[in-house]
Amino acid sequence: MSEHARPLAAAGERPTIEIEGVSHVYRRGGVRALDDVSLTLGPGLFGLLGPNGAGKSTLMRVLTTLLVPTSGRARVMGADVVAQPEAVRRVVGYLPQEFGAWRIARVREVLDMMARLSGLDDAAARARRIDEVLELVGLAEVARRRVKALSGGMLRRLGVAQALVHDPPVLIVDEPTVGLDPAERIRFRRLVGDLGRERVILLSTHIVSDLGDACADMAVIDRGRVLFRGSPRELVRRARGRVFDAVVAVDQEARLPEGVEVVSRRPEGVGIRLRLVGAGEAMPAGATPVEEPGLEEAYLAFMLEAGRSAAIEASDLGGGGR
Ligand SMILES: Nc1ncnc2c1ncn2[C@@H]1O[C@H](COP(=O)(O)OP(=O)(O)OP(=O)(O)O)[C@@H](O)[C@H]1O
Ligand SMILES: [Mg+2]
Repeated sequence: MSEHARPLAAAGERPTIEIEGVSHVYRRGGVRALDDVSLTLGPGLFGLLGPNGAGKSTLMRVLTTLLVPTSGRARVMGADVVAQPEAVRRVVGYLPQEFGAWRIARVREVLDMMARLSGLDDAAARARRIDEVLELVGLAEVARRRVKALSGGMLRRLGVAQALVHDPPVLIVDEPTVGLDPAERIRFRRLVGDLGRERVILLSTHIVSDLGDACADMAVIDRGRVLFRGSPRELVRRARGRVFDAVVAVDQEARLPEGVEVVSRRPEGVGIRLRLVGAGEAMPAGATPVEEPGLEEAYLAFMLEAGRSAAIEASDLGGGGR
């Protein structure tokens, strides 16, 4: 642990993020992006899952004080996001979805600027902290490289580094794995898992597998409303009996009934093996229920049950649906 690291709230202390009845209507377009959202989060990694336009980024902007909600209240480590924005900013690190950084600057310069902005005035202390953060996110070797010469994964890690430079106890990261290759995603998942042991992390994604094993608590939101709140295991449990395995003839796939969605497919003999989600009654003959659905499949089954088949197009369909 670094000299900056604070132990997380001891057991019995107040929850770290409290959201009570938060709604937000954007004036431009009049979209109700958040509709009476209430969530209470404790320490560790919390996954915020939802399709495009669900309201994930809007909620994060409220929690990072960038957006004043139309109604409701939210507190981060006890500080109110509207009444005490400075106190909130001190305890929160934020990686925005659109993080780009200054392209011609060098990695180290970006972090130095962020550290100065967050009040680390002592040059030696600043340099030490930057070394620490670079090491933490695995960018020490490219510290002198220009931002525009980083890979997508490195740029996202720089985004995490800039969010961590003032060593906040709360980290809010918006779709941190978009555009990363599978190896980088795995590395990223490990980094977030490590960071989550000492902090509160709120992570949004629509790629379910990115939540990883470190995530014990999550919510599914859609059209500004919380549809599910619980552990990934509970979401999987709910999907039992709604995920199926079937081998069908090639022309049969196009004739699947409404309410049945294909999660993945691969050729098998003269037919195709399909992973399907939907109600048992609607399944083609010979389809067998999958004992242990993956989290991705569970999410898709859940969204389909909630009447949101569009979520399936929006999500990344991996090979085995895991
Ligand atoms: N600045 C804005 N002005 C007007 N409407 C907005 C603005 N930002 C978002 N919206 C609308 O609010 C709704 C929620 O958007 P938000 O960006 O919070 O969704 P999201 O869950 O982050 O989606 P994505 O997965 O695509 O990032 C959408 O209907 C969106 O079009
Ligand atoms: Mg977003």
